Amino acid sequence: MASLKAFFCPKAHCPLKNYLRKQQTLLAQSMRAGIRTVFARPLSQQARLKHTFDIKRGDRFIEVSKGSGRAISLTYEYLLDNNAKTFEPKTFQRMDNIMDIDSNVELLSWELLDHNNLELNWSNEQSTVFDLSFLNKSSCEPPEVFWNSGQFEDLVLSQAVDANGLLGPYGKKYMDNFHRCLYKFGVAFAKNVDPSDKGTERVCEQIGVISRNYYSDKTWIVTANMEQSDTAYSNVPLRTHTDTTYFDSPLGVQVFHILSHDGTGGETLLVDGFNIANLLYKSDPELYETLRRISINYRYLEPGRAKFEANGPVIVESSKGFPFLKQIRYNDYDRDIDQSHLSVSDQRAFYKALRKMAELIQSKQNEVTLKLTPGFVIFINNWRVMHGRNGFTGHRVLNGCYMARHDWRGKVALLN
Ligand SMILES: [Fe+2]
Repeated sequence: MASLKAFFCPKAHCPLKNYLRKQQTLLAQSMRAGIRTVFARPLSQQARLKHTFDIKRGDRFIEVSKGSGRAISLTYEYLLDNNAKTFEPKTFQRMDNIMDIDSNVELLSWELLDHNNLELNWSNEQSTVFDLSFLNKSSCEPPEVFWNSGQFEDLVLSQAVDANGLLGPYGKKYMDNFHRCLYKFGVAFAKNVDPSDKGTERVCEQIGVISRNYYSDKTWIVTANMEQSDTAYSNVPLRTHTDTTYFDSPLGVQVFHILSHDGTGGETLLVDGFNIANLLYKSDPELYETLRRISINYRYLEPGRAKFEANGPVIVESSKGFPFLKQIRYNDYDRDIDQSHLSVSDQRAFYKALRKMAELIQSKQNEVTLKLTPGFVIFINNWRVMHGRNGFTGHRVLNGCYMARHDWRGKVALLN
């Protein structure tokens, strides 16, 4: 099917908004009831509707554009598969069998019923409606806000949410602010949390779902005792990285809570991976493309106990393409020794691109240094923001957990 990557700017003024919203609701209700209805519209409105979308015919597809936005191409199969009448009103699920689509059918004519609904008349006497509203809502800009070290304090740190509010009777407002912040910046904070593992657990369970995984059932505690086969269980510095790159689906949200530390150092380091990818794209699109294209292997080994292996590219875009990003999978510590699937030219291209990315990541301009204290809990989108730490002395007790990505994303989708 032709590309759906084009979007229309949501800022376009719509003078008939309220009227059309009512009409759209009525139309949707009628379609759900299986009633085929065309509303009588004022002549002035019909004239305006002509300017909503431009639609042209191609070779068994139509091309839809709006204003100066790029055109998108919709094949006949796609239009028939997404007939508005196929969606069940209670579940919003597509009910028709794809085998019932007539692949030889011809499109005879079309008409815009309102700002969202396009009626299509087919040669087999079938009439379908295609809902264009998702094109009206699409934005040209990603919803995330990228940040560097100079912007972090004002943009993100200042928005720390009070745990007493989160856990209190008006928690929803605090919760919405928290999820909005985590979504927008990839980092959010809860302050005034009870400085204990139970305190961490309580706030996390209020916010979302704690992941059960190889490392723990609930929250974990890390000290410099090398209990696990991971540098995190030492006191040496850790360069910034994302966690569990060796899982097919790396864990979603990383939570850190320092319960106590009687020494020096141990500051948390943070880098906005989406900002880095954006900078890389702007400075050298070819290097960006290399890290988007080439998949590499990651591994975790604990002889006799655990072995995890996964692969994926360092940069993953969303289905909308750049600048809409989905995931950064970056961990120098866990890159597998076996990259034998890479050709000589890909090995060379990969190292050139990765070194440039590492240079951006390790630049002080992009790396935030932050001293976490008991009661101040950080939540990190592990698919976007890289974390590390400075080396430290003394006894440092780090408590934390991972939270389920799908659950968190579901809450954000409701917000939007
Ligand atoms: Fe880590």
